[in-house]
Amino acid sequence: MRLLIMGPPGAGKGTQAEALVVKYNIPHISTGDIFRSALREGTPLGLEAKEYMDRGQLVPDDLVVSIVVDKLESLGSGSGFLLDGFPRTLPQAEALDGRLKDLGGGLDAVINIEVPPQVIVERLTGRRVCRQCSSTYHLKHNPSQVRGICDTCGGELYQRDDDSLETVQERLDVYNRQTQPLIKHYQEQGLLLSVDGTKEIPAVLEAITAALKQKEE
Ligand code: AP5
Ligand code: MG
Ligand code: ZN
Repeated sequence: MRLLIMGPPGAGKGTQAEALVVKYNIPHISTGDIFRSALREGTPLGLEAKEYMDRGQLVPDDLVVSIVVDKLESLGSGSGFLLDGFPRTLPQAEALDGRLKDLGGGLDAVINIEVPPQVIVERLTGRRVCRQCSSTYHLKHNPSQVRGICDTCGGELYQRDDDSLETVQERLDVYNRQTQPLIKHYQEQGLLLSVDGTKEIPAVLEAITAALKQKEE
């Protein structure tokens, strides 16, 4: 299965991706996670990306595209994957289309999680993320068993630097300007599956898997 998951910041892409990659046994490629782990390791890529991420702006296309292309090539042409947070601009989407064609196969579906802006702020300000394994929690909607500790690996939970109220607003503006046009791009390719992301986490997962199943039939 070759999937892409999109939606505004805080829509639940990462949360749903965690379950989908287990269900379909495919690797999870999150460009945001790649940048955050590069930063943790203090690499030049991480330091460069941080400049943009902290302001809620997008990392330049050529940098992101080359990272994803390397990743896809290392997986080999037959492999499935779930892309999360990429593409985010039309040039990124076009680069991906071209690359997948070269690798001999396009996407199977694009999952679009719909959530209105007023829900997003509460989700992002209450989010906590594991420093070690990137598992995602929410203080109210999806708390860890022990406060501040990851259920999966015992790592420390922290708040992302870009989850401040001010940066969230900028990320939403950037999404509306640069990423939302991709919905039409994938609609035209007949790949788009939109789901209501305001339901509870298991209900959203169910809606996604039902839509994927229906598309396969
Ligand atoms: P990235 O890390 O991709 O951030 P994002 O797109 O803003 O999305 P988030 O990760 O914030 O939200 P999500 O949809 O994954 O929600 P989550 O599941 O965590 O990118 C960060 C930055 O990196 C960008 O701003 C940019 O600078 C750079 N970047 C990355 N990719 C790039 C690219 N391709 N090009 C250029 N730059 C790029 O859920 C959010 C919270 O809500 C959690 O607390 C969760 O527990 C909770 N929650 C989830 N679902 C539900 C539900 N159904 N009900 C209640 N609560 C829920
Ligand atoms: Mg995410
Ligand atoms: Zn963890």
